[in-house]
Amino acid sequence: MTYRLLDLPERMGYRLAEVEPAHQEDLLLEAYRHIERKLGLERIREIMGRPHHQLYAALDAQGDWVGMVWLAEGEGSYGLPAGFIYLVAVKKQYRGRGLGHWLMEVADWWARQQGYRSLELNVDGANLPARRLYASHGYTEVRVRMRKVLTGW
Ligand SMILES: CC(C)(COP(=O)(O)OP(=O)(O)OC[C@H]1O[C@@H](n2cnc3c(N)ncnc32)[C@H](O)[C@@H]1OP(=O)(O)O)[C@@H](O)C(=O)NCCC(=O)NCCS
Repeated sequence: MTYRLLDLPERMGYRLAEVEPAHQEDLLLEAYRHIERKLGLERIREIMGRPHHQLYAALDAQGDWVGMVWLAEGEGSYGLPAGFIYLVAVKKQYRGRGLGHWLMEVADWWARQQGYRSLELNVDGANLPARRLYASHGYTEVRVRMRKVLTGW
């Protein structure tokens, strides 16, 4: 992977970098594998083509990614374009030390730079660590989808 280090202060010994466009797809596929989720390449490419698309990575001293945040324009809830967080992920062994908080601040910083008035994201209802992280950064629910499993077939 190649990255362009940003001229920003380190956090907890980690540096922030933009992922070079040629390596964005690879990093995203790796990140989705790491969190054991799937997103098709077609959808990844569609998001990569959206306005203000950006992928930031937190790097350790060896230059390996430990966390990432994936951003681009998305459809806002109230008809206006919004900044959208498509994925925030921290490698398992680096969780619980504030990297998630930092990446959420990076998303705010990116969104303000692009002139968005709001940031949105989707999250699974059962993903409590992520929901707590988002709530602590001021995100509130705008839509709730519910499901039940039908038994007795
Ligand atoms: C969500 C995620 C990014 C958090 O990263 P992290 O580096 O561990 O987060 P931090 O250490 O900065 O903690 C941030 C907050 O998240 C919440 N949190 C983190 N781990 C948690 C856990 N195991 N249980 C409950 N809340 C948790 C807390 O509110 C915490 O804040 P606090 O420590 O000040 O109370 C990480 O768990 C992850 O990568 N998960 C898999 C990918 C994913 O589900 N992404 C979100 C969907 S797009």
